[in-house]
Amino acid sequence: MAIAAHLALLSVFIFLAAHAEQSSLLYHGFNDTSLDREGAFVVKPSGALRLTNTSQNVIGHAFFPTSFPMFEQSSDSFPNVSSFSTIFVFAIEPSSPGEGGYGLAFAIAPSTKFSGAESGHYLGLFNSSNNGNPSNHIFAIEFDTVNGHGEERNTKGNHVGIDINNISSVASKPASYSDYGEAHEHDLQMDSGDPIIAWVEYDGPKRIVNVTLAPWKHQRKPTKPLLSYPIDLKPFLKEQMFVGFTASTGDKTSSHYILGWSFAMNGPAPLLNYSLLPNPPKEQDSPSSSPKSHVKVFVAVISVVAILGILFLAFWYRKTWHTERLEDWERDCPHRFHYTDLYKATKGFKSSELIGIGGFGSVYKGQIRSTGIEIAVKRVRRNSGQGMKEFAAEIESLGRLRHKNLVNLQGWCKKKNDLLIVYDYIPNGSLYSLLYHPKNNIILNWKQRFNILKGIAAGLLYLHEEWEQVVIHRDVKPSNVLIDADMNPRLSDFGLARQYDHDEASHTTGVVGTIGYIAPELVRTGKASKSTDVFGYGVLLLEVACGRKPLKSEEFILVDWVMEQYEKGKILDAADPKLNWEYEAEEMEMVLVLGLHCSHQIAEARPTMRRVMRILDGDDKISAVEGWDCSQNYSKFNSRMTEVISATSYRSSSSIGDISSTSIDAGR
Ligand SMILES: *[C@@H]1O[C@H](CO)[C@@H](O)[C@H](O)[C@H]1NC(C)=O
Ligand SMILES: *[C@@H]1O[C@H](CO)[C@@H](O)[C@H](O)[C@H]1NC(C)=O
Ligand SMILES: *[C@@H]1O[C@H](CO)[C@@H](O)[C@H](O)[C@H]1NC(C)=O
Ligand SMILES: *[C@@H]1O[C@H](CO)[C@@H](O)[C@H](O)[C@H]1NC(C)=O
Ligand SMILES: *[C@@H]1O[C@H](CO)[C@@H](O)[C@H](O)[C@H]1NC(C)=O
Ligand SMILES: *[C@@H]1O[C@H](CO)[C@@H](O)[C@H](O)[C@H]1NC(C)=O
Ligand SMILES: *[C@@H]1O[C@H](CO)[C@@H](O)[C@H](O)[C@H]1NC(C)=O
Repeated sequence: MAIAAHLALLSVFIFLAAHAEQSSLLYHGFNDTSLDREGAFVVKPSGALRLTNTSQNVIGHAFFPTSFPMFEQSSDSFPNVSSFSTIFVFAIEPSSPGEGGYGLAFAIAPSTKFSGAESGHYLGLFNSSNNGNPSNHIFAIEFDTVNGHGEERNTKGNHVGIDINNISSVASKPASYSDYGEAHEHDLQMDSGDPIIAWVEYDGPKRIVNVTLAPWKHQRKPTKPLLSYPIDLKPFLKEQMFVGFTASTGDKTSSHYILGWSFAMNGPAPLLNYSLLPNPPKEQDSPSSSPKSHVKVFVAVISVVAILGILFLAFWYRKTWHTERLEDWERDCPHRFHYTDLYKATKGFKSSELIGIGGFGSVYKGQIRSTGIEIAVKRVRRNSGQGMKEFAAEIESLGRLRHKNLVNLQGWCKKKNDLLIVYDYIPNGSLYSLLYHPKNNIILNWKQRFNILKGIAAGLLYLHEEWEQVVIHRDVKPSNVLIDADMNPRLSDFGLARQYDHDEASHTTGVVGTIGYIAPELVRTGKASKSTDVFGYGVLLLEVACGRKPLKSEEFILVDWVMEQYEKGKILDAADPKLNWEYEAEEMEMVLVLGLHCSHQIAEARPTMRRVMRILDGDDKISAVEGWDCSQNYSKFNSRMTEVISATSYRSSSSIGDISSTSIDAGR
């Protein structure tokens, strides 16, 4: 063993010696920078590097002054290009929102000087006469916020492109990122002023360039790159090349900032410590240093007069003023949408756009005009503005939940007592509709069902144990599971229930949920817990396996019925007949027995979601169901439940029982 280990070490060493002249650089801010600079480049007092200011047609360059050898050292006369990688954080502050331009680029170039390069679309890299010329030897990743050069290739602004000697990208894509390998991509507005992290990696042996983006607040690198483009850079690069950044403005302008940067040849770029990076300064040039300061004073006076005028008008129209009024804390919430955008997106909350009505409000389908992104907007009516701040804080925190089996909460908006919550739009509707009202009578097959059950378990496990706080879903049921285009499940409505009942919670039992899915102890104690969620999941397991609703009538209670079959030793009789026996008997039995375990009357007898996950993954054996009290069956509990609900004048009557199940039908 020892010898083998030594050999392994030795070979690593030789590998390093033969291939790698590993060199790297790392900047947290640019206070003591020795970068080669050109144009409008300025290092702000905070340490942020500003490549351009908001004047028109300016260019800024910042390049590391020493070149890097780009090719592997080898006796061969045609050596391969070495791997390299870089991480940097940039921020683009537009001169006026949505009007920013033109963009910035990470570039690898034969020189740090770009004589004759033009601003605007050319980003300070090329000009109209040398664009596309093979003698440029320039490789760049552009982060462009204006429609591409010539408009043909990069028809959308706000895109990332790979440029080789030519400002028309060989590959480009609208700026976005996808989380944890999920299929859905989130839009990323680059000229929002918020910092954005970018990763560029070139795999020398495999000859692939990967470009990945993520918003600052995410910090972790998404597993799926935005662009993954196979290309051999050999013909385009020179032996020694310089690395750095360039940015330019045109008729549209932005301040382009770099806040931190690392780069390495032959190895991963050193990780940035995000807490050491400077903040991008809000654009405010000191007035005294400017020769035009008297003009600025004049403008300021005019603005003050205008603002007073507007305030006066606002006061005048106060009674009929229907636009939103922002409080300070609301402004700080990054997920806040504008009411008018959502109003337009849903065609004014037109009834034709209504896709569901649930306990907590109506859900509308919408499309954001500017980006074309489809959303689902839930409109919640509230009776008072009380607790609004806490509510927003909760939504903010839930907005940070990210899992491939959760419906992504994109943001929210408040207007008077209207509260709007914005979710990703999920195209295939709810598990409820797929189970009970399938389109074109297409029955979910067992493989799909099993995959869906596993996905829901993964989502619940994340809520219960894997996120920074424990989130109790409180209303696990098929109509709260949406199915995406790849037939993967997404839990919706998580964690919000408590907040909706915030004002009531003090004088009711706080019981929230849907009959048929409510654990017995929840009725007694009014306390939702991880194991009350497990109970709901257990009922859902049985429902999906049996293809039957949890309560049909006074006589048919699914949980009790499956238990009867189990005790008779004929549990497979409970399987959904619509499946035509096309399933793995072992899996079916496991799911049914697991359903019984999870919907056990005694909370302590239920497994945790982690154990459920292990059982579904086949990593853990399932045991026999024990301690089941048949005299205390669900129907008795159920009638008691109804009493409790009528006694506490349960508020969201439409969330109870079958009504909600049939009414919440499509995606949110
Ligand atoms: C850069 O210098 C400023 C002022 O001297 C200081 O406040 C800031 O923390 C420094 N930034 C870094 C990254 O060292
Ligand atoms: C922007 O930078 C350019 C070049 O350094 C300079 O001429 C111009 O005055 C600056 N504009 C502003 C608004 O500071
Ligand atoms: C270049 O890379 C290819 C494929 O990875 C490899 O087969 C070849 O030997 C390499 N050439 C040199 C000179 O290292
Ligand atoms: C374009 O750039 C090239 C190389 O930097 C330079 O030689 C040439 O003069 C520039 N052309 C114009 C029209 O500015
Ligand atoms: C630059 O790229 C565009 C788009 O691929 C192409 O149409 C154009 O001919 C290229 N320019 C040159 C000079 O090769
Ligand atoms: C580039 O992306 C592809 C596809 O996601 C991945 O397989 C590959 O490992 C990535 N390469 C690097 C160097 O990150
Ligand atoms: C990042 O920097 C902070 C402040 O200096 C330090 O406390 C922290 O340990 C650093 N984190 C890492 C991962 O190095």
